[in-house]
Amino acid sequence: MELKEALKTRRSVRAFKDEPVPKEVLRKVLEYAICAPSAINLQPWEFVVVSGEEKKRLSRRLIKAYREKRISCSPGNVKPLSPVFTRRGADSFSALSKYVEGTGKKFEDFINEGSCEFYGAPSAIIVCLDNSFSHRRFLDIGIMLGYLLLAAHDFGLGTCPIGLISAYEDEIKELLNIPESKSVVMGVAIGYPDVDNPINSFRTERDELDQFVRWID
Ligand SMILES: Cc1cc2nc3c(=O)[nH]c(=O)nc-3n(C[C@H](O)[C@H](O)[C@H](O)COP(=O)(O)O)c2cc1C
Repeated sequence: MELKEALKTRRSVRAFKDEPVPKEVLRKVLEYAICAPSAINLQPWEFVVVSGEEKKRLSRRLIKAYREKRISCSPGNVKPLSPVFTRRGADSFSALSKYVEGTGKKFEDFINEGSCEFYGAPSAIIVCLDNSFSHRRFLDIGIMLGYLLLAAHDFGLGTCPIGLISAYEDEIKELLNIPESKSVVMGVAIGYPDVDNPINSFRTERDELDQFVRWID
């Protein structure tokens, strides 16, 4: 797939086929992901790849934790957002909710419990960062994540970044034996997309470029 096409066609996938992704394919995706640049080439990312029964066990643990704590998907803003961001968030949720209606689930359950079970993907990639790094290294993780999502897309795989799970870091660390010295930054649901599931027809919009840029020349 041409890179520009990959950039334009990648979408978050929220329904997957019940078909495992071979380990060699997951390895390839991660090999491309770690081609990403990082400050001083520190390559601060670490991955725990969970598949099969262990992934199901992780999903069950996360759903239990969600039902106990009810921490939902949210961008974790530190101040109220300006109207433009509020509008984008509301537009995105209202567009998705039309597709969620067809699933027979409540929107909140679909997003929060769906995120906790990686939307049924056969594998979950847990991305960690050593606590000796500053939070600035989230930048490196973000760039690597972009590479990962595009590489997976090129292999015919679907992905959904899952930020929600970081709210349940303690449970994840305990279950996956991740040391205290690491932080769980996020997860990625990965698998073959169920193209017949209407939820995967959902497309998010982007504002016009000029909304974001101020040219100085
Ligand atoms: C850092 C980050 C965290 C995200 N966390 C979640 C999540 O917890 N659950 C979810 O369903 N989608 C999550 N997403 C996916 C976004 O909702 C999605 O990328 C956005 O709506 C744009 O849609 P697109 O990926 O289809 O272009 C996350 C995306 C990013 C970049």
